[in-house]
Amino acid sequence: MGLILGIESSCDETAAAVVENGRKVHSSVIATQIDLHKAFGGVVPEIAARAHLQLIDQIVDEALDKAKVTLDQIDAIAVTQGPGLIGALLVGICYAKGMAVASGKPLIPINHVEAHIHGAMLGLSTAAEELYPCLALVVSGGHTNIYLMPDPTTFQLLAYSIDDACGESFDKVSKLFGLGYPGGPVIEKLARAGDPRAYAMPRMMEQKDKLLFSYSGLKTYMVNLRQRLPTPIPDDVLGHLCASFQEEALGQLVRKLEGAYTLHPEARSILIAGGVAANLRFRHLVHERIGIPAYFPQLQYCSDNAAMIAALGYHHLEKAGKAATFMNYNWDAFSRYQFTDNMV
Ligand code: KG4
Ligand code: ZN
Repeated sequence: MGLILGIESSCDETAAAVVENGRKVHSSVIATQIDLHKAFGGVVPEIAARAHLQLIDQIVDEALDKAKVTLDQIDAIAVTQGPGLIGALLVGICYAKGMAVASGKPLIPINHVEAHIHGAMLGLSTAAEELYPCLALVVSGGHTNIYLMPDPTTFQLLAYSIDDACGESFDKVSKLFGLGYPGGPVIEKLARAGDPRAYAMPRMMEQKDKLLFSYSGLKTYMVNLRQRLPTPIPDDVLGHLCASFQEEALGQLVRKLEGAYTLHPEARSILIAGGVAANLRFRHLVHERIGIPAYFPQLQYCSDNAAMIAALGYHHLEKAGKAATFMNYNWDAFSRYQFTDNMV
């Protein structure tokens, strides 16, 4: 019961993958719609849903072909149930339901945010006993969540943002400086030429034991700072601004990880996932400041992909112990992150 077909269509990536035992990726195909949405400065839900509809069968076929397997050889299908754009989700879910009904395979509904964490374990050979219990940070354009995970399918939410997500603050600051979308990669690049101490940033949510994030104050500070600067902003000043902003945006993540580890010293490792996990300065800060092993996804598994969906699907199937649990196809999609009964 180890070969899972994953399907992802929650936002602007149509993706399918075949993964064995939650770790070994046989194929991972991702079609990004970034160019379709660029002109609008963000993802347009209806355009996203229609683009998924055009591509999904090709992408799933390609994932099976690349893995050199047929649907017959797949043990179960895992698909993103939410959170995400409803129209976009429905495309993947309906497609997966159709496949499951036609083939008689179990269909596993997956929480996209929780699946991101499994992206950090793709291709990893570290034994489960060395990883769990672990702390997990999902840091993307929509979420800044820390979980305590006693095992691969239990996610106890310890921290979340009371306003903007960390990646969202990179995107908004990038827009403010006319640097385009997504903001993270361009700010990271410009920050390399700047001095992170050039501008004193407000330190948000400083209390380490208070596990909540906040990014809107930092963003407002940047808006006010921008008003005092000339147009165009000289290149060296822009580098300093990006470096100073990035250092505090990432610094808050590191402080809260330190706080979470102090509260949960039983954690054996830290898993970090989501778009911001691609940031090399962040990876450096985590390795420097956190005293337990930290695992980041390979770059292709930081942003949305279906391999992480298949990986978490495998663990749900393994926990249930029998495929029959997932033969009920009568369930709905959800648009926002759902707090489970694991909320602590
Ligand atoms: O996980 P993701 O691809 O999509 C979701 O939000 O679900 O994350 C995208 C976010 C964007 O906000 C983007 O600006 C940010 O991740 N990001 C980064 C970097 N690469 C992507 N933020 C900081 N540094 C980066 N290198
Ligand atoms: Zn995502």
